[in-house]
Amino acid sequence: MSLWRKRKSAPRDLDLKSLPRHIAIIMDGNGRWAQQRGLPRTAGHSRGAENFRTVATHCKEIGIEYLTVYAFSTENWSRPPKEVETIMGLLEKYLYEAIERMERDKVKMKFFGDVSVLPKKLRELIERTELISEKYDGCQVNICLNYGGRDDIIRGAQSYAEDFAAGNINSLTDGEFSARLYSGGLPDPELIIRSGGEKRLSNFLLWQGAYSELYFTDILWPDFGKDEINAAILWYQGRNRRFGGV
Ligand code: IPE
Ligand code: IPE
Ligand code: MG
Repeated sequence: MSLWRKRKSAPRDLDLKSLPRHIAIIMDGNGRWAQQRGLPRTAGHSRGAENFRTVATHCKEIGIEYLTVYAFSTENWSRPPKEVETIMGLLEKYLYEAIERMERDKVKMKFFGDVSVLPKKLRELIERTELISEKYDGCQVNICLNYGGRDDIIRGAQSYAEDFAAGNINSLTDGEFSARLYSGGLPDPELIIRSGGEKRLSNFLLWQGAYSELYFTDILWPDFGKDEINAAILWYQGRNRRFGGV
């Protein structure tokens, strides 16, 4: 990526040489955004999906290598069926458009979570998106869909138990366990952002976020644009990361 492109969208006070390699986002606040405007919650999800495109493009332009976003949690099934249905429909629409724009965007896309239970059409789109974006490198976007941090850890433990029973492995290290998670092979996110005002993780990247810097903002997701990403990175760059040291 040319430096010119990087400079174009990054403010001057952002240090492009010490960007986080991996940013993760809990995209929260769509429903309240809509309710504040007297709109149905689903209108907020629609705006939220559009905003995701803006944010992902910006992250790619400034040189972020990995962006992991929470789109639908294992707990979100408890919402009214109509809302769930709308979210699934919006995801389908998003993926159709992503496939169309693939040649322009050149972003590798991966999905974290148990997608086997999603509607068939959506599953096929996920498969196609992963397959055709496989060839791109430079920026990888991971969409967490039917994702839960506990589910991720349980699956990792199951995979270890199977290898252990088969006699393939007899001890487990931090790195070997990480490799069994959905994010296997990726660096842990240095920065986790949550929009929408809540200060909790809601079952997001529980293992991977062990040493992440946590940035919380009241701004609702549809309003969380480029300037807000830049502000979060700037805040991150001012942190003193000790990792238990002094
Ligand atoms: C986040 O926005 C999107 C999903 C969880 C799918 P919400 O729908 O949780 O919005 P609020 O938190 O109710 O405002
Ligand atoms: C977290 O938001 C999940 C996603 C953003 C996909 P929620 O709105 O589901 O979280 P809670 O219910 O406030 O904890
Ligand atoms: Mg919410």
